[in-house]
Amino acid sequence: MIEQDSRLSQLAIDLNHALIERLAATGKLTTRSWRTAFEDVPRHLFAPRFTLPDNLGGHALDVADSAHREEWLRAVYHDEALLTVFDEREMATTSCSAPSVVATMLESSQATDGDAVLEIGTGTGWTAGLLSHRLGSEAVTSVDIDPRCVAEARERLNHLGLDPTLTVADGYLGYPARAPYDRIIATASLRRVPPVWLQQVRPGGTILTDLRGDFAGNLARLTVNKDGSASGRFLPERVNFMPLRSEEEHLHELPELASRAVSAPGPHRRTNLGPVALRKWEFAFLAQLSIPGARAGRIRIKGGPMYFCLTDPRSESWARVELEAGDADREVTQGGDRRLWDELEAAYELWTRLDQPQPVDFTITVSPGGGQSVTLPAIDKQWSLPL
Ligand SMILES: C[S@@+](CC[C@H](N)C(=O)[O-])C[C@H]1O[C@@H](n2cnc3c(N)ncnc32)[C@H](O)[C@@H]1O
Repeated sequence: MIEQDSRLSQLAIDLNHALIERLAATGKLTTRSWRTAFEDVPRHLFAPRFTLPDNLGGHALDVADSAHREEWLRAVYHDEALLTVFDEREMATTSCSAPSVVATMLESSQATDGDAVLEIGTGTGWTAGLLSHRLGSEAVTSVDIDPRCVAEARERLNHLGLDPTLTVADGYLGYPARAPYDRIIATASLRRVPPVWLQQVRPGGTILTDLRGDFAGNLARLTVNKDGSASGRFLPERVNFMPLRSEEEHLHELPELASRAVSAPGPHRRTNLGPVALRKWEFAFLAQLSIPGARAGRIRIKGGPMYFCLTDPRSESWARVELEAGDADREVTQGGDRRLWDELEAAYELWTRLDQPQPVDFTITVSPGGGQSVTLPAIDKQWSLPL
C-alpha cells in the first residue's frame, strides 16, 4: 500500500537500513547473508496492522489508515514486538517478534546452505520469509496453529516471490510430513522439548527453542545425537516468546486457587526473601527449575492489601506475602501440601551459595524416550523438565 507513495517507500528503505545498522552495531546481526535477507525482506510487508506494546503507547496502527501511515511505518521499525492477533480475553496470541529477537534466532540457529528448516510459529510470516530468502523456499517449512496467520503469511510471502511450505498444524507434534530437518526453530516458548522433535531432526541437526515457565526461562540450543537423544545448553542471548498453545502443553488451571491464596488461613512466619528477588532474571531461572509448574502473580482483594502469590495447581498449594511490607515485617502465609515459599527460599540460598549461576551455566539433556533434565555441571545437580 505504500508502493504508490515514493516518499514513504524511500522512508521504508531508510528506516529498514537504520534498523539493520543498529542490529549490526549491537552484535545481533553479524552474518552477511542474514543481513542481506533483512534488506530484501522488509518487516513492514509483514505487519500491516498491529497494536504497539504498552511502552510505546499501546494503541493500534493500520497501514490502511492514510492519516497515520507514516506513524505506522515508523513504529514497524522500532525494535519491539508488534502484537497482531488477540483472543476473546484480549490476550495477544500472535506477534511479529522484535527484530533483535528475530536476528538472534536466525544467527543462533546455525542454519546454513543446504539445510532444511522447520519453523514452529509462522505468525506474520516474517521469519519464514527471512529463512526462505537465505536458504531457498524449498528448504523451509513453517507451521502455525492459527489458520488465519498461515493464510495471511502465505499471501505476503508469495507477493515477494517466496513460496515456503506453510501449514496449519500443532507445532508441538512437529511436522513429520517434511522431516527430517537439519534445524527446528521455535518462535513460541515451551516448558519442555517435545519428544517427537528429536525423531524429526537428523543426527547432528539442532533444535533452538525458548524453554520457559511462568517465572523465567531462556533460549536453549540442542544437538540431536546418533542414539536419538539430544543435548545442549542455554544460550546467553535473552528472548521471551509467547507460550505455545497446545493440548500437549496444557497446564491444569485452577481459578479458585488464586482466591484461596489471598484469603485462606494458614501457618505464617517472617521471611527475609521479598518478591523483588524474582525480578533478577538469573535467580528466576533457577527458581523456575526448582519450583516447576508454579505460577506467580499479584492479587488484591477489594479494599485489602496487594499480595504477591505463588500457586501450584497440581498440588493445590499456595503462598502469599504482602507486597508493600517492609523488609523488617514481611510475613509469608502458606497452604497446601507444598511449602512453595520455603522452596523459593531454598532456591535463593542455593543460588547465592553457588555464586549466582547464570542460565548459560546450565546444560540440558533429552533422552530418546522423552525424559529431560537440566544440569548445573559445576555441582552435578539436576532438575527435571517440564518447567
Ligand atoms: C511470537 S509468534 C511467532 C512470530 C513469527 N515467527 C513471525 O516471524 O512473525 C508465535 C506464534 O506461535 C503460534 N503458535 C502458538 N501455539 C502454536 C502451536 N501449538 N503450534 C504452532 N504454532 C503455534 C501462534 O499462533 C503465533 O503465531
